Amino acid sequence: MKGIAVPPFNALPQFLTIIFLYFSAADSYNVAVMEFAVNLDYFKPASEVLEDNTMNYVNLIQQAKKQSTALDLVVFPESTLSPYFGAIENAAVLPPDYGNFILCNSTEGNYAQFLKNLSCAAMDYNTTVLINFTEKEVCQGDQNCLESEDYKYYNTVVAFGTKGSILARYRKWNLFGERGKSRPTSLDLPVLYMGNTTFGIMTCFDIQFGIPAFNLIKNRGVKNMIFPLQWIGELPYLTALQIQQMWAQEMNVVLLASGASLPQSGAGGSGIFMARHGPIEYDVLAESGTKLMIQTVPIDSGEFNVSYEIPNTDTIDQLALSLDNFYLLVDPSIKDHKSVLLNTSTNGSSEHIVCHGEDDRNVLCCHFNTFITLNSTSTAGNAYTYHLVAFNGVRTYSGVYYGGVETCGVVACLNQSINSCGQRFSNYSTISWPVIFNFINITGNFSHSEQRFQLPTTLLSSMRPLTIMEYSWRGAAVNEKILERNIELNEPQSRLLTFGIFGRDFTRDWAPVRNNIRDPSGDVNDLSGKGMS
Ligand SMILES: *[C@@H]1O[C@H](CO)[C@@H](O)[C@H](O)[C@H]1NC(C)=O
Ligand SMILES: *[C@@H]1O[C@H](CO)[C@@H](O)[C@H](O)[C@H]1NC(C)=O
Ligand SMILES: *[C@@H]1O[C@H](CO)[C@@H](O)[C@H](O)[C@H]1NC(C)=O
Ligand SMILES: *[C@@H]1O[C@H](CO)[C@@H](O)[C@H](O)[C@H]1NC(C)=O
Ligand SMILES: *[C@@H]1O[C@H](CO)[C@@H](O)[C@H](O)[C@H]1NC(C)=O
Ligand SMILES: *[C@@H]1O[C@H](CO)[C@@H](O)[C@H](O)[C@H]1NC(C)=O
Ligand SMILES: *[C@@H]1O[C@H](CO)[C@@H](O)[C@H](O)[C@H]1NC(C)=O
Ligand SMILES: *[C@@H]1O[C@H](CO)[C@@H](O)[C@H](O)[C@H]1NC(C)=O
Ligand SMILES: *[C@@H]1O[C@H](CO)[C@@H](O)[C@H](O)[C@H]1NC(C)=O
Ligand SMILES: *[C@@H]1O[C@H](CO)[C@@H](O)[C@H](O)[C@H]1NC(C)=O
Ligand SMILES: *[C@@H]1O[C@H](CO)[C@@H](O)[C@H](O)[C@H]1NC(C)=O
Ligand SMILES: *[C@@H]1O[C@H](CO)[C@@H](O)[C@H](O)[C@H]1NC(C)=O
Repeated sequence: MKGIAVPPFNALPQFLTIIFLYFSAADSYNVAVMEFAVNLDYFKPASEVLEDNTMNYVNLIQQAKKQSTALDLVVFPESTLSPYFGAIENAAVLPPDYGNFILCNSTEGNYAQFLKNLSCAAMDYNTTVLINFTEKEVCQGDQNCLESEDYKYYNTVVAFGTKGSILARYRKWNLFGERGKSRPTSLDLPVLYMGNTTFGIMTCFDIQFGIPAFNLIKNRGVKNMIFPLQWIGELPYLTALQIQQMWAQEMNVVLLASGASLPQSGAGGSGIFMARHGPIEYDVLAESGTKLMIQTVPIDSGEFNVSYEIPNTDTIDQLALSLDNFYLLVDPSIKDHKSVLLNTSTNGSSEHIVCHGEDDRNVLCCHFNTFITLNSTSTAGNAYTYHLVAFNGVRTYSGVYYGGVETCGVVACLNQSINSCGQRFSNYSTISWPVIFNFINITGNFSHSEQRFQLPTTLLSSMRPLTIMEYSWRGAAVNEKILERNIELNEPQSRLLTFGIFGRDFTRDWAPVRNNIRDPSGDVNDLSGKGMS
């Protein structure tokens, strides 16, 4: 596997934009995120679907404003304005001077009506509105376009301010394949200021990377991250709410996640995560639907008031049962994980060290301590087999991207074969839960580096993470080079699917779609078929 040179996160060309917003109360802000039902009306022309979705957006802004009269911010999910098949047709140009241009009702230029309508809605409802759409930019020779091209296409998020102009533009950096769309030549790093706090923007696949998140958090000190997404959940480490909580916790940044909802294809999961204090509200809908989540977020993290109600097994089971038909991917690298079976024939403690690496120099050893008790009244039915796993290698993300991963975990599997890990029994009501984990302690040593991060990954059968109170997450420097990471279970748990450490190593990343010799910047301007994803 050949790697690509990864620049340090702060060595890229960057456009810094600082925008001042004026908000209702300086000590908190009111935000709406949502689960948004993907419009599957594929028999209509793409332009009509876009129009319907725009009206739906405007109605949601109105509804949110009714519930919270001093609403500051509405975040819409990724990819929910235009249908996929109409992405090129519905792609829209932004005014060159977008920061000073008011699109609402403008007769100048020939700008897309949906952008005008959303600009009007931000003004009418006096709230900042964030949307994702496909942006096109006219090729002007200096943009690295191929001769045959008229436009470059970007996956773009914009923020409409209450005066109707565009306060911020973020062109997605880490494209998920998305052949036909370009990575911008300069990284957009808009920072929104509101009261005394700061907001950055990233979208979907960006959550697996240091760029732009580290630039925004470590260099620019943003305290809140706006995160529109259309996330396809993956077992055992990367379902939507699981990854949102673990990212917010490790980065210690408020995450405002607004997700597209389409359970049959694995999309869903949204919420407001108060940095390392856990979510104040979150949800993943079992049926495709739209649900607003509106909360007041204090600017001072000392005021974060998260209620830590630990759900009982009945609540977990009820939610889990409703999610039987929720499609989920399985980590394609799972079969290459090194595994030791957890012996669940007796009560008591166990200790194991599981190591995995590509070669002798690059080995990750995971230390597992567990204490289990068996529930003898819970015997009938299918019970998960638990594997203690380690992985240090490169995985594929649906073939469109390859990423370095370093993982330790206790994971639920159908049977003794590692190939069955990350799969669920198809009928939740046939599952029994004889194993109660009283204690789990997992420790691994990782390299201290700006090119890596590790996150605490936990998952219940309800496709929700454990509450923050139920586990402890630590990092301690062993020496200059080594960081010891440790996750411990604090409360007994019987509905466990995943408990561990998910790490990324960007130095081993590799992008087949964009590593193309035609274009040394790593961009492929291939619009053949104009297929977008
Ligand atoms: C718009 O919201 C701002 C901040 O919440 C507030 O100061 C202002 O009075 C509002 N304007 C209108 C017209 O309601
Ligand atoms: C905002 O910051 C300014 C200057 O640092 C400070 O004087 C003011 O009290 C802060 N306001 C709030 C609500 O934190
Ligand atoms: C952002 O929205 C546009 C328009 O719906 C879509 O083409 C694009 O794919 C979206 N981004 C992603 C990553 O899906
Ligand atoms: C935009 O035009 C519509 C229709 O004429 C009007 O109702 C609305 O008030 C206008 N909005 C602004 C901000 O001028
Ligand atoms: C924009 O708003 C106007 C007036 O409400 C409506 O007739 C039109 O269909 C909308 N267009 C889009 C693309 O949302
Ligand atoms: C925290 O929230 C709880 C429950 O919502 C409420 O009873 C309590 O007063 C809040 N505390 C603070 C300091 O806001
Ligand atoms: C599990 O532990 C029991 C009791 O220590 C032992 O008898 C049994 O052989 C173990 N099973 C396996 C598969 O190691
Ligand atoms: C394990 O412990 C539980 C609870 O303490 C007890 O009910 C059960 O009988 C024990 N099982 C075995 C196999 O020792
Ligand atoms: C053991 O399983 C039974 C049947 O599922 C359940 O009612 C009981 O609450 C479980 N006990 C514990 C300690 O989890
Ligand atoms: C484990 O489960 C998988 C998936 O259902 C199945 O294909 C495989 O045959 C099973 N293996 C064993 C050893 O039972
Ligand atoms: C799931 O299992 C339960 C209990 O065995 C059964 O009643 C139900 O019909 C099954 N559901 C499906 C969809 O197979
Ligand atoms: C968990 O494991 C780590 C590393 O082995 C150890 O330092 C720590 O004391 C353990 N925690 C508990 C509660 O046993």
